[in-house]
Amino acid sequence: MSVNPAPVRPERSLFRRLFLINGLVFTIGTVVLALSPATVSAPVLVTEIPVLIVGLAVILAANAVLVRSSLAPLGSLATLMERVDLLRHGDRLLERGNGDLTHLIRTFNEMLDRLEAERSAASAHALAAQEGERQRIARELHDEIGQSLTVVLLGLKRVVDQAPAELREELHGVQEGVRASLDEVRQVARRLRPGVLSDLGLASALSALSSEFSEMSGVPVTKKVSDLPVLDDDVELVLYRIAQEGLTNVARHARASRVELTLRQELDGLTLRISDDGRGGVLREGAGIRGMRERALLVGATLTIDSKRGDGTDVILVVPA
Ligand SMILES: Nc1ncnc2c1ncn2[C@@H]1O[C@H](COP(=O)(O)OP(=O)(O)O)[C@@H](O)[C@H]1O
Ligand SMILES: [Mg+2]
Repeated sequence: MSVNPAPVRPERSLFRRLFLINGLVFTIGTVVLALSPATVSAPVLVTEIPVLIVGLAVILAANAVLVRSSLAPLGSLATLMERVDLLRHGDRLLERGNGDLTHLIRTFNEMLDRLEAERSAASAHALAAQEGERQRIARELHDEIGQSLTVVLLGLKRVVDQAPAELREELHGVQEGVRASLDEVRQVARRLRPGVLSDLGLASALSALSSEFSEMSGVPVTKKVSDLPVLDDDVELVLYRIAQEGLTNVARHARASRVELTLRQELDGLTLRISDDGRGGVLREGAGIRGMRERALLVGATLTIDSKRGDGTDVILVVPA
């Protein structure tokens, strides 16, 4: 970010430029009038009116062309303002044009640099807080509710052993119910805090995620993970969370018959791809996809979503080396 020590006032230089253009056109008009044989009588003769109209039209047209080309960069600036999205970094306007508006464009570009940096810092903060909160809830689910259910299960087992035969069947049912709840609590805790990530690494965490997804959705996943370099914890968590949201979206929206999840080193960098053969056509990005974009920005990665109606969806994350 450069700080301009003596800023040019764009409104002044724009004023000067428009004044010059108008002055030039009027001066040329006056000179042509003075040198040409055309005369204007008072009152105006009918034969002189067409000459006056043509002269005026020429002056207005010349003025319009010059003023318009001077103001063209303002149009591109407005288009960029409408289009710009802080989650897609690096969308900038070229500092070109007649010099007067360059300063305005440069200032706007610098403002975008600043806003993008602030936005990234704010999302990093928010996501870190969210991960912390998830870990806390996961720990409480696992340690408190999980523990209580385990105690209930043990108590039930003692009761079943001593119960009269006619009650046993019913008690077995209760036992099964409690066991299923305990499994659910553990699963929710695991989804909230991918403990396998730190215990067994990304590849195993993705395997667990894929098989859980297939079990839940009935859609088979082909998983290909190869030659992973040593990765930062941050990068691993981003890859895991994006794979998680990508698969959740397939289950919720795609109506796919199969999914491919690949993670491998490619020319541009480490590439995660979640491709389904479902109905495709991602038009509006909701909280899920915005969240993926925020996470991608955290580690300087780029996220592309390629989705044609009727032709499946590819979510591609590239983490540069
Ligand atoms: N794999 C997919 N296949 C088809 N449509 C999808 C897929 N992923 C996302 N979409 C579409 O994109 C929209 C936005 O997704 P997302 O931002 O994750 O929000 P949410 O999942 O909460 O609806 C979804 O509502 C859905 O219409
Ligand atoms: Mg979603």
